[in-house]
Amino acid sequence: MSTTAVDYARENHPRFLNELKDLLRIPSISTLPEHAGDCRKAAQKLADELRRIGMENVRLIETSGHPLVYADWLHAVGKPTVLTYGHYDVQPADPLEEWHTPPFEPTERNGNLYARGAVDDKGQMYMHVKALESLLKTNGALPLNVRVLLEGEEEVGGEGIAAYVASKPSDLNADFALVSDTELFAPGLPTLCVGLRGMIYTELEVRGAKTDLHSGIYGGAAPNPFVALAQIIARLKDESGRILIPGFYDDIIPPSAEELAAWKSLPFDEEEYRRTEVGSKELVGEPGLSVLERTWARPTLDVHGMPGGFIGAGAKTVIPARAIAKISMRLVPAMTPAKAFAQYKEYVEEITPSGVEVQVRLIHQGDPCLIPVDNPYIHAATRALHEVWGKDTVFIRGGGSIPIVGDFAKHLGLPSVMMGFGLPDDNLHAPNEKFHLKNFELGIRSIIRFLEEAGR
Ligand code: BES
Ligand code: MN
Ligand code: MN
Repeated sequence: MSTTAVDYARENHPRFLNELKDLLRIPSISTLPEHAGDCRKAAQKLADELRRIGMENVRLIETSGHPLVYADWLHAVGKPTVLTYGHYDVQPADPLEEWHTPPFEPTERNGNLYARGAVDDKGQMYMHVKALESLLKTNGALPLNVRVLLEGEEEVGGEGIAAYVASKPSDLNADFALVSDTELFAPGLPTLCVGLRGMIYTELEVRGAKTDLHSGIYGGAAPNPFVALAQIIARLKDESGRILIPGFYDDIIPPSAEELAAWKSLPFDEEEYRRTEVGSKELVGEPGLSVLERTWARPTLDVHGMPGGFIGAGAKTVIPARAIAKISMRLVPAMTPAKAFAQYKEYVEEITPSGVEVQVRLIHQGDPCLIPVDNPYIHAATRALHEVWGKDTVFIRGGGSIPIVGDFAKHLGLPSVMMGFGLPDDNLHAPNEKFHLKNFELGIRSIIRFLEEAGR
C-alpha cells in the first residue's frame, strides 16, 4: 500500500508506461481527414481513463473539428484551481522509411520510448493524468481543484479550442494553467518555459495561364507561376535573414537586460548546436544576435513547401497554370497575427510580378506569449522541481508555438506554468520521435509535487 502519491507513481510505473503505449498506438493525426476517427478514439480513451481514476463531469466537447476532452475535480475548498492542458493529436509520421521502428508501434530502446506523439504531446499530457491518478488513489482527494482540458487540433492551429476558450465558459474558471508541451533546456536541468512565439501560417496561390501549357510552344510568352512565386519569396527576406515586409518589426518588445543576461549563462554552445542539432554547414539569421535571441525573441519567416506543377520522376515540359507556396511567420511579443498578416498581404500584392494573380490566404494563427514569473504558482513549480531534480530551475523561452497559452491569458486571465520534460534531441515532428523514459518518470513525480505545493 503506497503511503504517498510519489510512491504510488513509482510502484505503478510499468503499468503507466503500458497505458501510454496503448494511447500511442492510435494514429490521431489531426491534419489528415482519414484519421478523424482515430482522433475521436484517442479522445474517448482519455475520457474513459479520466473517469476511471476518479475525475468527475468527464465529457467530450464537440468543436468545429476534433473533440475536446473535459474533466474536473472541485472539492478542495479554499484551494486554488488549476486548468491542466495537453493535446492528444500528433503530426503526420512521414517520411516513414526513416523510422527505425514504426511510428505507431511504440518501442523502448536505449532508455527512450520511440513513437509519433511520444513527447509531443501524448506522453507529456499523460503525465498529468497519471499524476492525478497517483494523488487520487493515495489520498482519495486532490490537493487543489483541478480542471482538465485536452484538445485534438493543436498541431493544426487549435481553432476549436480557441473558440471554446474565447466563449469564456464557467467550466474554465481557474487560477492558473499547467501546460506540459515544452522541453528541458538540457538533460537533467529543470526548466520552465516562460515565452513562446506566435505564428501566422499562410498560403500564396499564384495563377498564370488558364490551363497548363507546353513549355516549348508557349515558353517566352506565358507567365510561369513558380518563377513568380520564387521572385515573391526572394523579396520577403534578405540574405542576412531580415524580413522585408514594411513595418513588420515595429511592435516588437525586446527581451529585458535581465532576461538576456540569464540566457547568456545557460549551458549552450552555438557550434555544438550547429553540428549536433541542425547539422548544416553554417547557421543563418540576423547578424549580431545570438541563436537563442534569434529563435526565441525575433520573428522569422519560413517556406514549408510548394505544391503544384510536375514533381514525378523524369521530366515533363509544362508551364503550370498555378502554383502554391506554404509560408509561415513566427511572431514575438507584442506583434499580433492580424497586423502581421495585413502587412504581409499588402506587401505580397505589391511585389507580385505582372502577368500573374496572387491570392494570399491565412490558414491559422496564434498569439505570442510572455508569462510573468513572479507569481505563487511559478514559485511552487521551482520548489517542486528542485526537490525532484536537485537543481535550480532555469527560465527559458521557446521558439515554437502553443496558440492556446496566449488565449488562456487573453480570455481567461490565467498565467500558465509551462513545465515540459522533452529533450532538445527528441525529434519533435520528425522521424524517430522519442520520450526519454526517465523524464516520463521524473515528470510525473514533478507534477505530483507541483500540484501538492500549489495547493499548500
Ligand atoms: N509542443 C509544440 C510547441 C513547442 C515545442 C513549444 C517545443 C516549445 C518547445 C507544439 O505541439 C507545436 O508543434 N506547435 C506548432 C503550432 C502550430 C501548428 C500552430 C508549432 O510550433 O509549429
Ligand atoms: Mn505539442
Ligand atoms: Mn507539435
